[in-house]
Amino acid sequence: MKQFSILTLFLLSSIYALGQEYALIPYPSSIITKKEKDFILSKASVIYYSDKELKNNANYLQNVLKRATNFKLTTTTLKSKVHKGAIILSLEKFKNATKGSYSLEVSDGVIRISAADPSGVFYGIQTLLQLFPVEIYSDTWVKNIKWKIPAVQILDEPKFEWRGMHLDVARNFKSVAFVKKFIDNLARHKMNTFHWHLTEDQGWRIEIKKYPRLTQIGAYRDSTLIGHMRDKPHRFKVGRTGGYYTQEEIKEVVKYAQNRHVTIVPEIEMPGHAQAAIAAYPEYGNTGANPGVRSKWGISEDIFSPEEKTIEFLKDILNEVMELFPSQYIHIGGDEAKKTQWESSKRVKELLKERGLHDMHEMQSWFIKQISNHLAENNRKLIGWDEILEGGLANNATVMSWRGDKGGVTAAKKGRNAVMANSKFTYFSKYQSLDKENEPFAHGGFISLKKAYSFNPIPSVLSPKESKYIIGAQGQIWSEYIVEDNYVEYMMFPRACALAEVVWSKDKDYQKFLERLKIHLKRLNILGINYRVPDEFIK
Ligand code: ACM
Repeated sequence: MKQFSILTLFLLSSIYALGQEYALIPYPSSIITKKEKDFILSKASVIYYSDKELKNNANYLQNVLKRATNFKLTTTTLKSKVHKGAIILSLEKFKNATKGSYSLEVSDGVIRISAADPSGVFYGIQTLLQLFPVEIYSDTWVKNIKWKIPAVQILDEPKFEWRGMHLDVARNFKSVAFVKKFIDNLARHKMNTFHWHLTEDQGWRIEIKKYPRLTQIGAYRDSTLIGHMRDKPHRFKVGRTGGYYTQEEIKEVVKYAQNRHVTIVPEIEMPGHAQAAIAAYPEYGNTGANPGVRSKWGISEDIFSPEEKTIEFLKDILNEVMELFPSQYIHIGGDEAKKTQWESSKRVKELLKERGLHDMHEMQSWFIKQISNHLAENNRKLIGWDEILEGGLANNATVMSWRGDKGGVTAAKKGRNAVMANSKFTYFSKYQSLDKENEPFAHGGFISLKKAYSFNPIPSVLSPKESKYIIGAQGQIWSEYIVEDNYVEYMMFPRACALAEVVWSKDKDYQKFLERLKIHLKRLNILGINYRVPDEFIK
């Protein structure tokens, strides 16, 4: 027993204390515990992989295991004969397998992770890591631990294909290093979509070679509102703030995400939330005046003009965006576009008449349709916030339903895909406690961990056939008040752990989730991830 530290014994006993309920988040579809000896990882263990498509997964596992165990395991292609201690990653031709599904078997001293596609193998690896003592997540060598896992048979598959998290890097910029850590945190929770909110009234964060002023000017503001918009008089923190990602950095982040089976969906906001772009290129606004990069929160009246030349400008931008991001979906925003400037423009009224349109909602739809056609010509799909339904939905557009479930319901009833981002359940920039005095300053609102867990992305009014159009859900981090990295994590965790079960697990049970979460939080501690201790854990 010498090799056990007291801490390990405690942690292992706490895992087994759950009985059949292992501390897995998100919880898998089925687990059977086998009456067999535990698997024990040693430096002689070998990681085998069946296909070259799994080499990245094998390397990922090798790297993660190396940090805590100090074992530099060999990775090699699968041989007909393997010895005890082997970890076998293999692609199999499972019939009708859902993308991301996998089987994980720990038996007879061998670990077998099998799936129909590499993402399934990756998720099997994530489950495998959670079966080890929690110290497996240490980034430095942890001595005197037996790296053992129970003999189990796990079959698992995701509930939804879109398992997302959004991050607003436009109100407050976030570094490449932090974005990578954010992506790692998604991958660990089997989430597969990172919605990167890159442009706003208050900042433009992506280098566009054809239009350098977007970042030279649009990436920085001179001052920032202190507190809420509703708090009058407005006070400002004076000082240049901002930042942006070069295209080289974006490529690096996209590759990093690909290796973790995370798709990055970039968002370029239009026609509203565009003041920073108009500050850089006033000719694509409505008034010709330069509004400057916005210092206040709230919504700007400076939106893109509905001129052909603006559409061409945005197509050029999207061409560079599509070069950088292989994602099938491109998010074009579409939310909260105030029509004040369009309504008061003689020129826009002429355009309305010329195009045979009836109102400014239809004008916005005309705008979005031009963009949607351009994306379709490039074999991409448009996704936008639910305002894109107003004035008529573009062909094949997918709706991101944030103002409740209504947008998602309308889309699904029309036979269009929807992602549920209902702000009552998924806006993690809202407070996690009613004791707001003792929480960091936030947007307002309240979403408890329990409420986040209770979210059902499929609205009850939909028939089973219509429900098929609900492709998933995602959490949102709007960053007006969320400046520091550890504050992003505080707002995200553990609500993102709850969301991970919402989008992955077939069955949910909040009490059991809390039991598992107690152990999972130890992993977050070891990983240096900040989180809010749930009220349920405070005696
Ligand atoms: C949004 O919260 N404006 C999508």
